[in-house]
Parts: sequence; structure tokens; C-alpha cells
Amino acid sequence: MTDASRPTAQQFDLEGILAPTAAVDAYMAKFVDSRPLPRNLHAAISYSLLGGGKRLRPVLCIRACQAVGGAQDQAMPPAAAIEMIHCFSLIHDDLPAMDDDDMRRGRPTLHKHTNEAMAILAGDLLNCLPFELIASQLPADLAGRIVLELATATNDMIAGQVYDTLPDFPADMSPLHRLQTIHRNKTGALIRCACRMGAMCGRADEQRLAAVTRYGEAIGLMFQVVDDLLDITQTSEHLGKTAGKDVEQGKMTYPSVMGIDASRAEVTRLQAEAHAGLDALPDNEGVRMLRDLCDYMAVRSK
Ligand code: IPE
Ligand code: IPE
Ligand code: MG
Ligand code: MG
Ligand code: MG
Repeated sequence: MTDASRPTAQQFDLEGILAPTAAVDAYMAKFVDSRPLPRNLHAAISYSLLGGGKRLRPVLCIRACQAVGGAQDQAMPPAAAIEMIHCFSLIHDDLPAMDDDDMRRGRPTLHKHTNEAMAILAGDLLNCLPFELIASQLPADLAGRIVLELATATNDMIAGQVYDTLPDFPADMSPLHRLQTIHRNKTGALIRCACRMGAMCGRADEQRLAAVTRYGEAIGLMFQVVDDLLDITQTSEHLGKTAGKDVEQGKMTYPSVMGIDASRAEVTRLQAEAHAGLDALPDNEGVRMLRDLCDYMAVRSK
């Protein structure tokens, strides 16, 4: 596909697809407020959790629930939970010992806004609060499955951050295999989990869960390939986070290993793979939203 024939982010009814965002924000704010916390810790997590972000993971969770015939409210606890885990991952990702970033979501990172101790502790809280939320808000027969799903994906994300930051791969592992291992874990795991938890809360049977899993796996990897491309093609002002960090820090990325054109071709391949997953589901509004969300995620510019 040439750049001229490539669809742009403006072509999607993003407002419609992302409509549950306001309800997710309100749900997260209510849960955080219901929990006694030191005032400064409450302020720190509110700053990071409720201060912007595309909310793609909660929306994927809700749309996956709808795609298998469930309703938005059934997916609200895991939707909020996955955004909290994502937010924890970003706070820690930005710390000086990690990517050392000053800007996130168009504002100073949490450790710049407060201090490093608070950023570490706020991240810690946002790693456990979601499990409290799931255990207290979901029906008992679902809570155990969702806790297992979320805990596994969170641990895979942490493993992915280690592969990214402190790589210790066997010498005979190819660069492409290393790259896939980093990206599938650090980013793919939470996105796949968002989709699967939504489908589980919509009471999907095994066949539908497998279809949603195929979709989630493909867009999870695709998401980080696009993130890598944006890091070298967009400005910091546009992204709301520092551009050019990956080259500066010598990170292993799709463009650095495969080049820009091959990375774009990989996005297109993964987009088709995600569509193939959805093709196994009976068509409904949720499935159409997931398809559009995938196509938007392939062409997003921030
Ligand atoms: C950024 O994720 C971190 C990655 C996993 C690449 P998003 O691009 O979804 O960040 P927000 O939530 O919109 O800020
Ligand atoms: C993010 O990867 C992965 C996680 C936060 C788990 P990056 O380090 O590329 O994300 P950005 O570019 O800082 O958002
Ligand atoms: Mg990082
Ligand atoms: Mg980073
Ligand atoms: Mg990045």
C-alpha cells in the first residue's frame, strides 16, 4: 500500500468507537475515591490515571464483550483494571532507571510532577488496585478466571520490560525472534488480555474466545510496531511524549531491525491477521467496532 492510498485516522468514527471512555473514566474515579488512601498518593494516581491517554485497552475490552454478545457494563471492571495496569506500566517505564522520560500524555511524567519515590509507589498501587477491583466487583465464578488472566498478562508485560531494558537472550536467537519476544510481552500481552477479559465477561464460548484471542494477539504486536514507527516519524509535541527515544537509547525496534518499509508491511500483515480472527465471529455492532478499531490502530499518528 502506498502512502497516498493508505487510509488516515480521520476516516474512522473514532468518537463512536471510543464512546465508552467517559464511562470508564467515571468508573475508575469512583473506585479510586471509594478506597481510603493517603492524600498525596490519591493525587498522584489521579494525575496519571485520569490525565489523558487514548483508553484503547478499556475500549477493546468493552467492544470484545459486545462482539460476543455481552453488554458494556459486564466488562467495566476488567476495562478499568487493564487501564490501571497499563498506567502502572507507563509510570514505571518513564522512571530514570528505565526510559528516563520527562513527558507523558502531553504533561510532565509522574516522577517529574511529584518525585521518584511517589512514582514508584503510585505504580505499585496501580499494580494491585485492579485485583482488588476485580475480586470485589465481578461475580465469583468469573473473578478467579479474570484474576488469572490479568495476573499472567501483567507478569508477561514485566518480563517484556526486562527483555527490552536488560536483555539476556541466548546468543543463537535471531534479531527478529528477539524483537517479537520483546514486543509480544511488553505490549502485546496487555492488549491480548484486554480483549480476552472482555470476551470472558461476555460469557463467550471457547470458539468465540479463540477468535477474539487471535484478533488480540495480532493487534497487540501491531500496536508496538506502530509505536516504534511513530517514535521516529512524529514530533514530541504531536505524540505528547518524547520522540526519538528509541534511537537515543539504542532500543531494539521494528524499524531499527527491519527498516521502515518492512515495518509498515508487517503492520498490514498483522491487520489482516486480526481481521481473520474477527471473521470467525457472527457479525454484530461490537465486531464492526473491533474491525474499525484495528484499522484505526494501524494508521494512528499518536
Ligand atoms: C503507550 O501506549 C505505551 C505502549 C505500550 C506503546 P498508548 O499509546 O496506548 O498510551 P496512552 O494510554 O494513549 O497514553
Ligand atoms: C512501552 O514501550 C511498554 C510498556 C510501557 C509496558 P515504550 O517504552 O516504547 O512506550 P513509550 O513509547 O514510552 O510509550
Ligand atoms: Mg520502554
Ligand atoms: Mg518508554
Ligand atoms: Mg515507544
